[in-house]
Amino acid sequence: MVKENSPAADHPATLRLRLRVWRQRPGQPGAFEEHELPAVPTSASFLEMMDLLNERLIREGKEPVAFDHDCREGICGMCSMTINGMPHGPLPGVTTCQLHMRNFRDGETITVEPWRARAFPVLRDLMVDRSGFDKVVQAGGFISVRTGSAPEANSIPVPKPVADEAMDAAECIGCGACVASCKNGSAMLFVGAKVTHLNLLPQGKPEAGRRAVAMVRAMDEAGFGNCTNYGECQAHCPKGITLDVIARLNRDYLAERVRAFFASTGKPRRGGD
Ligand code: SF4
Ligand code: FES
Repeated sequence: MVKENSPAADHPATLRLRLRVWRQRPGQPGAFEEHELPAVPTSASFLEMMDLLNERLIREGKEPVAFDHDCREGICGMCSMTINGMPHGPLPGVTTCQLHMRNFRDGETITVEPWRARAFPVLRDLMVDRSGFDKVVQAGGFISVRTGSAPEANSIPVPKPVADEAMDAAECIGCGACVASCKNGSAMLFVGAKVTHLNLLPQGKPEAGRRAVAMVRAMDEAGFGNCTNYGECQAHCPKGITLDVIARLNRDYLAERVRAFFASTGKPRRGGD
């Protein structure tokens, strides 16, 4: 692993690399496949290096490596690859699509795998099924009233520190690196980020408790594991989401369960549970 740098004068313009890439067809076991790349430009991004490999495979009449990507600007969260054992590769705060080949050494062997997590089954090669995240968002990303068009921005004052914290949490791009890096396969950082950004703002307050409970339930149903405070998720999140969001999720979840408990026991109807 090396640090992000600008190309130095003595840095070669191209790299000779050996790639170990995970290949897997649907419903079959996978295995690593090795490829030599003799001249990868150091100015290329990691995905452009994968494009070079695929162009060569296509020219040779072979099947290209399937991998997810979309924006290539670090904002969509699609580029899910584990590079040398690290989700999104060796640079902190950088998505795979923003990682450049100048950060690797000439002659290096690079191992590329899909996210490894029970709740993210491999679809093909480096692509995994992240629909579990969609189910979590569908469970909690709602409000109970029709709001019409966007209101005037200053009609609901939001204190600056609250807006800042909500917007920091909203940076989550749903990539899944937190799940892939956690030995429990936990999605608590992702769920905590969504709950924090929705629950902190005034518009999200009326649903806050129900949202936290519904998203945690959806997370459990999708097969994600529990958080035991390893902190790998925070270390590998390309957007700098911190464990604070998990603390907020736990607070909102517990407060709602306590509220629901007292609501159920405080009602005049007797005999209910
Ligand atoms: S919390 Fe970070 S690592 Fe997890 S999905 Fe969001 S951006 Fe990706
Ligand atoms: S391709 Fe969109 S974040 Fe990497």
